Formats: sequence, C-alpha cells, structure tokens
Amino acid sequence: MLAASHPPLVAAGGPPWRAEKPKEPAVYTAVMLVDVTAEVIANTPLSSAYNVLALQAPAIAAAAAPGQFVMVKATTSHDPLLRRPFSVFEVLRDRAGTPTGISLLNKRIGPSTELLYAAQPGQPVACLGPLGRPFTIVDPPTEALMVAGGVGLAPFAMLAETLRGHGVTTTLFYGARRASELFYLDFFRELGVSLVLTTEDGSMGEAGRIVAPLDRHLAARDPREPVMLYACGPEGMLAATANLAIRRGRPCQVSVERVMGCGMGGCYSCVVPMRGDDGVFHHVRACLAGPVLPGDQILWD
Ligand SMILES: Cc1cc2nc3c(=O)[nH]c(=O)nc-3n(C[C@H](O)[C@H](O)[C@H](O)COP(=O)(O)OP(=O)(O)OC[C@H]3O[C@@H](n4cnc5c(N)ncnc54)[C@H](O)[C@@H]3O)c2cc1C
Ligand code: FES
Repeated sequence: MLAASHPPLVAAGGPPWRAEKPKEPAVYTAVMLVDVTAEVIANTPLSSAYNVLALQAPAIAAAAAPGQFVMVKATTSHDPLLRRPFSVFEVLRDRAGTPTGISLLNKRIGPSTELLYAAQPGQPVACLGPLGRPFTIVDPPTEALMVAGGVGLAPFAMLAETLRGHGVTTTLFYGARRASELFYLDFFRELGVSLVLTTEDGSMGEAGRIVAPLDRHLAARDPREPVMLYACGPEGMLAATANLAIRRGRPCQVSVERVMGCGMGGCYSCVVPMRGDDGVFHHVRACLAGPVLPGDQILWD
C-alpha cells in the first residue's frame, strides 16, 4: 500500500465543469492510493467479447468513487509491459455492507483485455487505484441523464447506485451495436433507473445512435428543470453528447478514454486539449484532471 498525492475527490475551485480555468488542479484532497495484488474472486462471461471480473481489493473498494479507475495487469510477464486503465464497475460488499472488492466490465480488444477475459478464480491481478477525478454527484431536484455507449457503461453502475442513494431521478441512455451487447439492464431497473435503449442494428430499442433519443428528450424538457448529463463511450459519441448539451444549455460531465501509460501523471500519453473560460488553450492529463472532464471545455476534433 502506498500513500500518494492523488487526484482529487474534492478539487479547489468548485465543480470541474464550471472551473474558472480548467487547468490541472494544484490543490488536491489527499486520499489513499492502493497498489495490491488482487485475487480474482469470479469471472462472469457476458458474451464472446465482454466479461465481468470480480477482484478482492477491499482497500480500493472502500476508497473508490464513481468515475474513478484502476490500472490493472493480469500477468507478471513483460508482455504486455504496462498496466491498462479500467473503470471501477461495481463495489462488492459482504453481508454487513463492508466493501470487499471491485468488479471490472471488460471488453476484449487486445492482449491485456484478452488476459482479463480469460482470468481464473484465484489468479493474482496487479491493481492500482482508485485513480482520477470522479463524477460530481448532483442532488434533487436536479435529474441525472447518464449516456453510455458500449463498454462506456462501465462507470455507470456505481454512479447510478450513488445517484439513487441521493434520491436523484436517473435515466440511462444506453446504446450498443446489438441487443446481445446491452448488459445489466435488470440491475439498473431494480435501482429505479429509467432506460432508453438503442442498437445500431435495431435488435432492441430504437435503431440508430443513442444521441438521437437524448436530443429529443432534451428538446421536450422544460429548460427551467435542472438536469446533469454524464457521458462515457466512444469519442464520437462523447463529442456529440457534449455538443448537444452546449446547444441545449445543459451541463455535461464526460469520462474521456485515452491511452494511459501510467495512470499517475508521469508519461503524458493521455493529454486532452481543452479551452478555459478565458479562451486560452491548454492540455490536461486525463489521468489526473480527468477522466471526468467538463464536456464544454474539451476541444473535440
Ligand atoms: C479511464 C479509462 C477507463 C477505462 N475503462 C475501461 C473499462 O471499464 N472496460 C474496458 O474494457 N476498457 C476500459 N478502458 C479502455 C481500456 O483501457 C483499453 O481497452 C485497454 O487499454 C486495451 O488494452 P489491450 O492490451 O487489451 O489492448 P491494446 O493493445 O492496448 O489496445 C488495442 C487497440 O485499442 C487502442 N486503445 C487502447 N486503449 C484505448 C483507449 N483508451 N481509447 C481508444 N483506443 C484505445 C489501442 O491504440 C490499440 O489500437 C478504459 C480506458 C480509460 C482511459
Ligand atoms: S497516463 Fe501517464 S500521464 Fe496520464
């Protein structure tokens, strides 16, 4: 276990999407950063590409906030060399409610995610976290609209639990390629989250992309009713959601995906171009200032 100066649970200067100058914050509330060898508790395949991996990591589970991530590696060999970032999907608890571990929603696309797909119970997995700036949680009467594309669902299980715990009316707009890639629908329904689903092939919900029903929903709402958008998914979906939020005058927190070499600010592989309220362009490291960033300040391609 190592204590470290760590990205904020509370950053100076107010909510991240309304920071005066969204530079990487200079003042952080110190929290414990934990590096453990976590044992695989269970590996549940969801499809031929997706699985949920449960890891025994009580200290990370106790410290994690919605939107934070862990750096993970499921082998002691040098191939792959570097750990990879994964959102904390669920915090696992024992019957007394004590955090015992975390789960990851994994989509296999390369060597590390392949190893996580194949991991066996009892296997050790190097796990460092929790890392990064979490989502800022709203309270009623503000409503929450979560927007997920594909594996971008990952941060929303924990976020939904937290929002519903605060009594926030919450809707999940969730898009995937096909019905067999829409996961955990009953989990969200049982939390009282309303679902709006789309699939690219029309096999469940509306055919097309998730931004279309989101646009209609925002257009139909009374602009005086406060809402907060939370988005995670492919960059095109994030850009479309952030631009839609700007057009509709709504705040939007996006969790950006970047290639991350270290997860701790050392390698600059994860920079995101942003514009401050003063109009000045600058880059932030997504692992420190994000992954949750104000959508209206990111410079989308
Ligand atoms: C904050 C954060 C949270 C994430 N959470 C999850 C999660 O919960 N579940 C999950 O399955 N994945 C998640 N990812 C993505 C995951 O880290 C990558 O899929 C992983 O690095 C792939 O590793 P690999 O060794 O299997 O494939 P690699 O060989 O590393 O990558 C395969 C291909 O994907 C590209 N790639 C890798 N990472 C990214 C990225 N972040 N954005 C765009 N392209 C990329 C590579 O350039 C390469 O072309 C997250 C990424 C970030 C930044
Ligand atoms: S991942 Fe290394 S600086 Fe962000």
